[in-house]
Amino acid sequence: MPNFPLGDMPLETFLKEYWQKTPLLVRNALPEVTSPISAEELAGLSCEEQVESRIIIREDGSDRWELSHGPFTETQFQDLPASHWTLLVQAVDHWVPAAADLLSTFNFIPNWRVDDLMISLSGAGGGVGPHFDHYDVFLVQVSGRRQWEVGKVCDERSPRRADTPVMILTEWKSTQNWTLEPGDMLYVPPGVSHSGVAVGDGCMTCSVGFRAPSHRDIIMSFANYLGNKLGEEWRYTDPDLTPQANPGYMTPKALERVRNILRQYVDDPDLVGEWFGQYMTEPKYSDEEPDAEPHHFEDVITHLSQGGMLKRNEGSRFAYQKREEGTWLFVDGRAYSCNEAQMDLVERLCAEVMIDDQTWVQREEHISLLMDLINQGSLYLSD
Ligand code: SIN
Ligand code: CO
Repeated sequence: MPNFPLGDMPLETFLKEYWQKTPLLVRNALPEVTSPISAEELAGLSCEEQVESRIIIREDGSDRWELSHGPFTETQFQDLPASHWTLLVQAVDHWVPAAADLLSTFNFIPNWRVDDLMISLSGAGGGVGPHFDHYDVFLVQVSGRRQWEVGKVCDERSPRRADTPVMILTEWKSTQNWTLEPGDMLYVPPGVSHSGVAVGDGCMTCSVGFRAPSHRDIIMSFANYLGNKLGEEWRYTDPDLTPQANPGYMTPKALERVRNILRQYVDDPDLVGEWFGQYMTEPKYSDEEPDAEPHHFEDVITHLSQGGMLKRNEGSRFAYQKREEGTWLFVDGRAYSCNEAQMDLVERLCAEVMIDDQTWVQREEHISLLMDLINQGSLYLSD
């Protein structure tokens, strides 16, 4: 596997012993890594309307933390203090191909679990404070140095500062610390408290973040999906009703009937499968509109024959499920029911970010699927 960032450690060992369990430092994980974007370009990106970004400043000498949200202006960058600041830009992989390439290094974890590549840039002493995240993160140092400390597992009840919008854990003690150089990587599981402080200026760290929907979101989304699917005719029924002494008593039998209704939907593999595929492939930012003008098949053929390729939109998520009959391809929250003849294309699209040869545009089954994806904006014609 090229650029596998776990060094000599077999993936099985990482998954069994570290993933979601305990932090892991990998020295020289990506020896050739370079910043996917310069400091100036990252600052420029954070001035764009559609880009999600934050600046966190710890006032020098005091314990005051300030948080501001982008888009920023050039003046705000000129006014930054000399040290103790951090700029964080979310989903840089959506905008910068080199960042998308770095993110794809982590495709040993299912891609529908991956959220985005966030990049932080800090002046000396800059950091976001001791905190925990609800998801796994791989922290790759790409330039400058950062000292990382990790502590114990925290949760919503862990005490934190109430006087600042930044999550700062109080009573925080680190149990391990390391200074990361470019190419080094630290894996931190969900809930494990951590804090990174830039050692000197020009400290850039890439965070590969994962999606971990809360049970609350899972239940609400599934309920919403079912709500749109079910008609009014399906009702609570009790043809087996028997006499009861108190009319206000809800019998165990009545509750059992309700649980059976709920179970009927939760235990249906097709319903859960279709909803989950759509849910987990919803784009992070859903305001991107597909091109108004549909593409024509002839344009695609010409494009490929001239050495062009079809690329997955950087913000698009692709996943598939095998069913008893056929396959579901899920892209950007939509389900495509695919047949056996489309299986090779489905697998290819879920494993590789691009298609560059004409073998994929020779069969009607392939062409119809590709054209749907192009016209939805999930694939685009690229040089
Ligand atoms: C950072 O890159 O400074 C913050 C990332 C994190 O703590 O998750
Ligand atoms: Co964090």
